[in-house]
Amino acid sequence: MKVFIVYCHPSEDSFTRNLRDAFIKGITDSGNEYVMSDLYAMDFKADITEQQYLRDANYRNTPFTEEDVLAEHEKINSSDAIAFIYPVFWTEAPAKLVGWFDRVWTYGFAYGDKKMKMLDKAMILCSAGNPIERLEQFGLLASMKKVMLGDRLINRAKQLEFVVFDGTSREKETREGNWNSNLEKAYEKGKSFFAEEVVFTVDDKFFTAVENSKSGEVSEQTIFCYHQKDNVIWAEYSGGSIVKGFLIGTMDEDHNLHFNYQHINKNGELRTGSCDSEPSVENGKLRFNEKWKWTMGEEGTSVIEEI
Ligand SMILES: Cc1cc2nc3c(=O)[nH]c(=O)nc-3n(C[C@H](O)[C@H](O)[C@H](O)COP(=O)(O)O)c2cc1C
Repeated sequence: MKVFIVYCHPSEDSFTRNLRDAFIKGITDSGNEYVMSDLYAMDFKADITEQQYLRDANYRNTPFTEEDVLAEHEKINSSDAIAFIYPVFWTEAPAKLVGWFDRVWTYGFAYGDKKMKMLDKAMILCSAGNPIERLEQFGLLASMKKVMLGDRLINRAKQLEFVVFDGTSREKETREGNWNSNLEKAYEKGKSFFAEEVVFTVDDKFFTAVENSKSGEVSEQTIFCYHQKDNVIWAEYSGGSIVKGFLIGTMDEDHNLHFNYQHINKNGELRTGSCDSEPSVENGKLRFNEKWKWTMGEEGTSVIEEI
């Protein structure tokens, strides 16, 4: 199996370079192969040209894609999976990697009449100066995951994973303290990259309601964005007759969800209730069969399906 590594760091004197090398050692030690684009070493051009802008913005296949972008397409389509390794810069990837997406995710390859293959797996491995708690408390981790997984990689790989190596700022003692354990973690991520069991999670998955009882309020216009940390699950939802909704609960050992929900509907009413939800897979899509009950008493069932 082969993984295409897109690596982006301006300096070899960095933790991220060590992270890259540990990950690669894990890949090769497990008998797998890799091909890499080292964006700084290649001096990869990050700026989209006006020509490409007009081509992509107008959903056209012409003019022809530039040679360096075609080379990236070839690396993707001749690999089984993709891994991105970079330091977090201002809650994003470095500009060069953002530019890589602008140019490589072209019309006719990554969207539109897509020539890009469905990869088995996409993994983000990023180093962050801040501790993970801070990135979570301020919603910064959620933003990064949403952009990378929920926009750039969604529907382009069967399995998505976002791994953070936190507390790596040069001004923090944790950088040195966690150095070896972080590199061990990177090595293990490489070593088990193609072997890892698929973990059941609803994290960063989007759902819409495909069935509902008459007294229910969510519909196919309602989008749920789920999150998960350990056995805690939560989601925001809106659309259709729901102006804004939130739910929070737990996932049990059989992957059933048990949660309370509350939302404001278009009549300005605050509606609350509880729900037990059982997973199933139909046509390769994850579904939850829900039994819900309004706090006021009425009960019903609904089905939500992964988008
Ligand atoms: C320009 C710049 C912006 C940064 N922005 C962030 C940030 O938004 N959040 C964060 O946690 N760390 C941030 N950092 C810290 C880097 O993520 C950190 O330097 C890196 O992960 C440490 O590893 P390195 O030795 O590979 O650079 C930033 C660093 C630089 C140089």
